[in-house]
Order: sequence, then C-alpha cells, then structure tokens
Amino acid sequence: MLIPNASLEALNTLHLPGKARRFAEISSADQLQALIRGGELSAGPVVVLGGGSNVVISGDLEATVLHIRIPGRELVGEDAEAFYVRAGAGEDWPDFVTWTLEQGWGGLENLAFIPGTVGAAPVQNIGAYGLEAKDRFHSLEALNLHSGCTLSLDRGACRFGYRESLFKTEEGRGLVVTSVTFRLPKGWKPEAAYLDLARELSSSGFEHPTPLQVAQAVTAVRRRKLPDPLEIASAGSFFKNPVLDPKSFASLKVEHPQLPSYPQADGRFKVAAGWLIEQCGWKGRSLGPVGMFAHQALVLVNHGGATGADVLRLAETVRADVRTRFGIELEMEPVVL
Ligand code: EPU
Repeated sequence: MLIPNASLEALNTLHLPGKARRFAEISSADQLQALIRGGELSAGPVVVLGGGSNVVISGDLEATVLHIRIPGRELVGEDAEAFYVRAGAGEDWPDFVTWTLEQGWGGLENLAFIPGTVGAAPVQNIGAYGLEAKDRFHSLEALNLHSGCTLSLDRGACRFGYRESLFKTEEGRGLVVTSVTFRLPKGWKPEAAYLDLARELSSSGFEHPTPLQVAQAVTAVRRRKLPDPLEIASAGSFFKNPVLDPKSFASLKVEHPQLPSYPQADGRFKVAAGWLIEQCGWKGRSLGPVGMFAHQALVLVNHGGATGADVLRLAETVRADVRTRFGIELEMEPVVL
C-alpha cells in the first residue's frame, strides 16, 4: 500500500522535482484510519498533499506523503436559510464549485476556478474577490494522525484567518481533513464589491447577476491576470499581502500615495504585495528558470526545469528587494516541503 521513492513532480502545480520516501494515495477515511491504527505512519514525518497547488517541493522528502483523493459530494441538509453540502477532501475544488452552481446553489462563485482540492480550502482558507472559504464554511471532519480518532470541527474551532487556520498551526498539524460541509445561503446576494469583479460585471451588462454570471465574471478576471495552470506552472499568489499597523501604513502611504491598500476590521491596513514587487522591477522578470508573472507580479512561475532551490532563491531575492525598498517583510503563501 505504501509505495517507496514516488515522484511528486506531477503532483505539484509548480512542477518541481522531488521524491517521497514513502507514498500512499488515500481514497477513504477508513483506509487512512487503517494505516494509522496499523502503525504504518508512526515512523517518521507525514506530509499531506491535496492538489499540490500551494506547496514548494524543496527536493526529495524523508517523509511519508499521503495524497488525499477522498471523493464524494452530496446535499446533506437543508433549512429555511441554507443548503448544506458536503464534499470529500479529495474532490477537485473548481469542479466542486461548478457542480454546486449547476445544482442551483449559489455561494461559492467568487471562489470559482481556484486550483486545489476541497480539503485544502479550509486549511488555507482560500479567498478571492472579496470572499473566503470561511464565509461559506459549516464544518469539517478530520482524522487525528496520532490517535486515529475522527473529529468534527465547526467554524470557531478551525480558527480561520487570512490564508490561515488551525491546520497550519503546531496544534493542528496532526489533523487530516477528510470531508468539508459548506453552508450555501438561500437568500443569495452577489458579493461584488471587489473592484475588478464589479468592473467585469458591469462591462458584461450583468446589473443583477446570477451566481453563474458572477462565476463567469470571476473566470474572465482570473484569465486576464493569472496564468493558465495547463500552460504555465505556478502556485498562485506566492506571497501574502502584508498587513501593516496604522502608523507604518500612514508613513508608507505618504511616501507612496499610489500604494493599493484595504482597511481591515481591526484598524490595520492590508497592502498589495503585487504592487510592491512590481515597483522593485520584478514584474515579468526572471532569475534562471523561474520568474514573477508578467500580468501579476505576485505570482511566481516556473518557465520549465526549475527546482525548489531555484524557487526559494528567487523568493529570497524578491523579499530582500522589497525589504530594502519599503522596509516590509513579505511572507510566503505556499508551504515549503
Ligand atoms: N497590483 C500591481 N501589480 C501587480 C499585481 C497587482 O500593481 O503586478 C495591484 C493591482 O493593480 C491591485 C492590487 O495590486 O490594485 C491587488 O491586485 P489583485 O486584485 O490582482 O489581487 P492580489 O491582492 O494581488 C489577492 C489574492 C489572490 C486573489 C486576488 C483576488 C492574496 C495573497 N492573493 O491577490 O489569491 O485571487 O486577491 O481576490 O491574498 C492566491 O492566494 O493564490 C490568489 C491568487
């Protein structure tokens, strides 16, 4: 059941080379539980891989890699306010979103076409165009890798933040998400405040858009800005947008009035990392086989044949340039394995 020396190159969207010391495809929670209870995962580190769209494979991994392929999607409940829809952690996220829209359940359309799996959506608290996974999240089931016990976690227990959750903390690292339930509101209203999306909707003549029309507009914006995963290897945004305290933000804004920024509920300001990187001259520029994408400087792309070391070298160079120019520390979004 555990395969030795398995290549991970086709399993990460940056297409970086690397082998797993041991590898297993997980197609059900029971199968994973049997591996845990049989002691198969107790020797050495365990790495959980979903769609591989948010990882940097740094080389060969001295670990057991579990590729989560757990399928399934169904309506599990309905009340006056919402549909409750559950999906297996291994379901492809964009396919799942399309399926919900086809059933007539709006709610996930702003998150259309984000590469990755359903199980990774809450881990990363994926977000786009004014919506995050947490906004439509109801609960999830996870397995504890040490005890083999099943847990059911609600929204509060998952401790969601900006591209953050319990599962990215020390405490949650031993948990493997096996299924996720979303709450899709019946009183659907479009979330169309994000400037790019609002512009796209109005230029398409969608004044009172349906969920499908919002998804269409999201797709059009993504096509313009983000690389097509079938043509160019990337991991989406490579850095998080930094969140600054009001004082640092105010002095930076005086120096750089063009800096795009978004006030946060806690009084801080999120600033656009893509803009900072572009100002440092990295938009469309390469370092060896990797570079920052020509239409969105926040996206690091592999032009072909890159290794994890090439990616990390470019990441460090960009971080150093942004630090020197703006005094801001960029934080990587993908997880380095
Ligand atoms: N900008 C530039 N130059 C660039 C890129 C962006 O000046 O090269 C400016 C844009 O003009 C705009 C601002 O920066 O004023 C924000 O750009 P954009 O709308 O493209 O969004 P982002 O902040 O760069 C975030 C998410 C994306 C998500 C988009 C849309 C993060 C780290 N990234 O990007 O998520 O799709 O907003 O909501 O929060 C991902 O996480 O992988 C991802 C793609």
